[in-house]
Amino acid sequence: MSFHGLIAIRRVAASLACAGMLGLLSAGALRAEVALAPQVDAGTLPALGGTWRAANPYRDSPAAELALPLGRAAYNQACARCHGADAGTNAAPAPDLRKLNRSCRRIDDSDLKAWCLRDNDAYFAKTVRQGKVIVGITHMPAWEALLAQELAWAIQLFIESQALKY
Ligand code: HEC
Repeated sequence: MSFHGLIAIRRVAASLACAGMLGLLSAGALRAEVALAPQVDAGTLPALGGTWRAANPYRDSPAAELALPLGRAAYNQACARCHGADAGTNAAPAPDLRKLNRSCRRIDDSDLKAWCLRDNDAYFAKTVRQGKVIVGITHMPAWEALLAQELAWAIQLFIESQALKY
């Protein structure tokens, strides 16, 4: 059983227990999964337009320094309630996002590492845009309509900066 499988089962069980207690069907249990747009102005970041980039455009760029504090603020407003404050715990209900690029970080070959990070970026962007709905239960809401890609990539940089501390 994978880590994510276990999380999924735990969340399904929690949703069912919650629905049972409230005497409601899953609609009651799912109310907490609504996405709330972070109130962070991304206007100082280089604008990226409406078409999502395949890879994080701020990584290793001069904009990274600017993106980090904005990413931190947006993360704590939008993601922390499930993934943990400052992406600094493995004890939150949702997966520890610092682990996402761990296997890439361990690769020595620079070309292979770059491929791995690009793949990881694609997975991050797809997951954030679409959310995670598994057997009809919203584990994570979709962020596409609420989160400009500038902020999404800034959030990812912040998470990665936390990962480097461990
Ligand atoms: C309502 C709770 C909730 C919120 C808010 C939330 N997530 Fe999630 N997220 C989850 C859950 C639960 C999963 C695991 C879903 C699964 O695979 O079962 C997840 C999975 C992910 C994954 C994939 C992780 C992996 O290991 O595969 C990424 C990336 C992610 N979330 C990013 C974000 C970002 C960025 C934000 C803020 C913009 C956010 N999430 C906000 C609950 C949430």
